[in-house]
Amino acid sequence: MSKLMIELTINGKKRKVETTHSTRLLDLIRDDLHLTGTKEGCGKGECGACTVIMNGELVASCLILAPQADGAIITTIEGIGDDKCLDPVQEAFIETGAVQCGFCTPGMILAAKKLLEENPHPDEEEIKRGISGNLCRCTGYQKIFDAIKLAANRLSKKGGGRGEEDA
Ligand code: FES
Ligand code: FES
Repeated sequence: MSKLMIELTINGKKRKVETTHSTRLLDLIRDDLHLTGTKEGCGKGECGACTVIMNGELVASCLILAPQADGAIITTIEGIGDDKCLDPVQEAFIETGAVQCGFCTPGMILAAKKLLEENPHPDEEEIKRGISGNLCRCTGYQKIFDAIKLAANRLSKKGGGRGEEDA
């Protein structure tokens, strides 16, 4: 199988990786870059477990071939917080009990971050649309909605806006 070298920026770091024309971005991220926060669920673009942000858009990394990511800027769940300083969206998911098995959580949090970047005050319908590409088998979604609302309120306070923590 012929190999090729690609270069991408992942979580703020430039990386050169040898890959093949048929390697999925998901496998490159997990197996070659060892960023195993990105999960594989369906492998068919339906569950959102493999969601990453590529060039500013949410994408299912199971549907993208590694060569398509040559030159791309990618954020995975490892890029938005760490053990010492969680992202406000991560904190809100933990506080509201929106994490159960955790399998959907990395993709869900990236979808929530993207939603809040574009729409800092989403209502419940907008939250539903924002995470419509991400399936959760455990939580029934209500706690995820609560987490996103809590994060939105906190982020708007940080930004100097008004928010209601208990909304
Ligand atoms: S594993 Fe990619 S969408 Fe399900
Ligand atoms: S927490 Fe288990 S799939 Fe969402």
